Order: sequence, then structure tokens, then C-alpha cells
Amino acid sequence: PQRRLSAQDIRARKGGDPVVCLTAYDAPTAAALDAHCDLLLVGDSVGMVVHGLPNTIGVTLEMMVLHGQAVMRGAQKAMVVIDMPFGSYEAGPEQAFANCARVMKETGAQGVKLECGPGAAETVAYLVQRGIPVMGHVGLRPQSTLAEGGFKAKGKDEAEASQILSDAEATDTAGAFAIVVEGVAEGLARRITAAVSAPTIGIGASAACDGQILVTDDMLGRFEWTPRFVRRYADLRGVIDQAAAQYAEDVRARRFPAEVETYFSKKPG
Ligand code: KIV
Ligand code: NA
Repeated sequence: PQRRLSAQDIRARKGGDPVVCLTAYDAPTAAALDAHCDLLLVGDSVGMVVHGLPNTIGVTLEMMVLHGQAVMRGAQKAMVVIDMPFGSYEAGPEQAFANCARVMKETGAQGVKLECGPGAAETVAYLVQRGIPVMGHVGLRPQSTLAEGGFKAKGKDEAEASQILSDAEATDTAGAFAIVVEGVAEGLARRITAAVSAPTIGIGASAACDGQILVTDDMLGRFEWTPRFVRRYADLRGVIDQAAAQYAEDVRARRFPAEVETYFSKKPG
């Protein structure tokens, strides 16, 4: 069987062929995406797109473990990375290590992702030194939107841009194998990508990054919000709506189930 891609494989893609990433939360979706992707992220976006939460703050470690296990069962080839949820790593390196180790033991995934604002590099270095492959995440950090006010593109003024650049550089120096760059203008994405040795994975961060990621439910049209940076490759919401309408009509008209969909007892004989 084909070997699963590793953190080293992803890191080696810096400046080369674009790294193709998507999110996944369940086994059948992971199985369908696996052949096409280098990396599948079990994002804490699962809280919003699967569980109906208003933001990612309510996502728990238990949710990440369960969805991580499902994705690991579905994907054979892609590297699987699990998002560390809000509250599971910010208190300090030791808290982060304990929770990351739990996630890796219970899921078998090869890496974790942490949102890396100012001050996070110490934790990233601590984890990497102890054997945990870490993917960073800078720019728009969804777990901080309550403190910072909404989902807005970042780094439009130079003060904010240089803060994000230094977050990325610190995350890189700490040993992250890749860095997600979210919601920043093209110029800043270009500066970050040139400054760090790890491949940058963009979301709403232009084509200047070393790879791209989207929330799968967004690009499949299954989640009803479409920010400017999402390209819709399917309309699954529409497909489900049509199928459910047809089913409802058939049941109400007693057209479903038909004879071929029915079990019959053997004729006595
Ligand atoms: O939670 C998530 O899906 C993410 C990606 C969009 C990068 O963090
Ligand atoms: Na996330």
C-alpha cells in the first residue's frame, strides 16, 4: 500500500509544486478526497460546518478526536493534521503538549495545527522538540475573532502586516513544518512566503502561497456562506434539497417503496 505523506514530505514542497489541502471531518468524505490531496486538515471549522456552532470557540478536544479518528479511517495516502481547539493549548507549552499528545495517540494523525498569534512560538518549539509535527496558522485566526471583532481580512495596515509577518517568522523558527496563512492581502502573503522556510498554505491569501486550502463544505456548496475567496466547485446543498424533495413527494404519493424495494415472505409450498 502507498505510504502516507509525512510532515517532511510536505515541508520538502517549499517553492515546488503547490501543496493541495482540504478539510475533512468524516470517513467517506476523507476517502473521496484522499487521492487528490496532499494533506487533509480536520479543522475546528467542523464546529461551524458540521455541528452548527456560531464560531469555533465551543469546539472540544473530544470532537477533534472523534472526527480525527474518522478521517484517519477514510484516508490512506494524504497526511492528516488535526486542529487543536480553543482552550487546549494557549495556557502554555505543557498544557499544549499533554493535549497534542492525546490527540496524536487517540487518532494516529501525523500532526497538529495551532493558531499562532504573538507569543505562540515558545509552545510550537516545545512541541516540535518533543516529537510533535506542528502546522502553524497566522493572519486571520478564527479562535481570536471574539477578541478582535469578526472575520475580517488582516494586515491591511503596515503595523498589523508586520505583526503577522513576525508571527509567521517566529512560527517558522520554532520548527513548524508548514504555515497556514489566512485572510491576508497578496502583498503580505508574498512577503511571508519569501521570509519563511516552511511552505505557506493560503486560504483567502492569494496565489502567492506555496499551497492552498479551502473548507471542503464551502467549496462543495454545502455550507451557506461564500466569502470572496471561496470558489464553488459543486452545489451539494442543492443536490440534497432536490433529492429530499423527490423522496418526500414519492412517499406522500405512495410511489416509494416499490416492489423492487420490498421484501416478501416465501410462498408456502
Ligand atoms: O478550521 C479550519 O478549517 C482551518 C482551515 C480553514 C485552515 O483552520
Ligand atoms: Na481552524
